Amino acid sequence: MSEEKKVIRKYSNGEITVVWQPHLCIHATTCFKQLPKVFKPRERPWVKIDAEPTEKIIATVDACPTDALTWYYNDEQKQKEYIAMKENPNGKPEITIFENGPLHIPAEINVKDSTGKILKVNEEKYICRCGHSKNKPFCDGSHMMAGFKG
Ligand code: SF4
Ligand code: FES
Repeated sequence: MSEEKKVIRKYSNGEITVVWQPHLCIHATTCFKQLPKVFKPRERPWVKIDAEPTEKIIATVDACPTDALTWYYNDEQKQKEYIAMKENPNGKPEITIFENGPLHIPAEINVKDSTGKILKVNEEKYICRCGHSKNKPFCDGSHMMAGFKG
């Protein structure tokens, strides 16, 4: 049996591209109630991408309750910066605890031992939480063999 063909349409105003995936639309009407000059379901093409400023289009697309409407910046660098800002809004370095695994410490944070010696500079580090590593304080993957939970 052939897989159902999924239509994806794109609309660009030069700055952003709005992506439309009709198979994901649940007809919640949010888009055309919020921004009727841009989203006109009775017309073809139904997205009038130049009818409102970019910020308004982004706000409306973000309000779509499914991924029927999504968007991205056309400029790759700007898109990368936007994703990074979304993942870490205050821009501060973050330590992440991996489920059943180590702590992840980003490159910009140095790790010192009890004598003040810096153990790693400018590289990502994974700190053992399970107590089984043979390379403490760093994780060597032993948590998997040890069946560490936490
Ligand atoms: S807001 Fe999203 S789910 Fe609702 S009608 Fe528009 S595209 Fe469809
Ligand atoms: S958390 Fe990976 S070895 Fe301990």
